[in-house]
Amino acid sequence: MSGRYRLTSVDTVSEEGAWLFTVRDGHGEEREVFLVPCEDDESTVEAWVNSCTHEAQPLYREGVGTVVREGEVVCPKHGSTFDACSGHCDNGPAAETTLPDVDVSVENGQVYLTDDDVRFLREGASSDDEEDGGPSSTSHLRF
Ligand code: FES
Repeated sequence: MSGRYRLTSVDTVSEEGAWLFTVRDGHGEEREVFLVPCEDDESTVEAWVNSCTHEAQPLYREGVGTVVREGEVVCPKHGSTFDACSGHCDNGPAAETTLPDVDVSVENGQVYLTDDDVRFLREGASSDDEEDGGPSSTSHLRF
């Protein structure tokens, strides 16, 4: 049945710029998802599957995070940008595509996973493609 799972706070997403977590989808596959603030409304965040629609490159990278410029998520491989609020891309090789989303809601400054099609597994990256060297669930912020 439907339920919700508290992921993190809006403040954390805003401070870190993005927040990565892993879910299991209806096919039993692990999928990485990242939260980003939606600039239209600073109390809102959106959740996008961590895979560019062009060549399935991650938009959130461990140790780097997600590059967001002027409300657009930037793909590090070929530079297409996706609207952080709608997920839509209108430029570059990924033009006229939209990132798959995952349902989340915000209540009292907390972000909840509300998507019945996925199940929360962990904060951070999927273990399917975990790189060696360091814990997988810790944020690595760099400046
Ligand atoms: S992989 Fe993202 S634009 Fe090519």
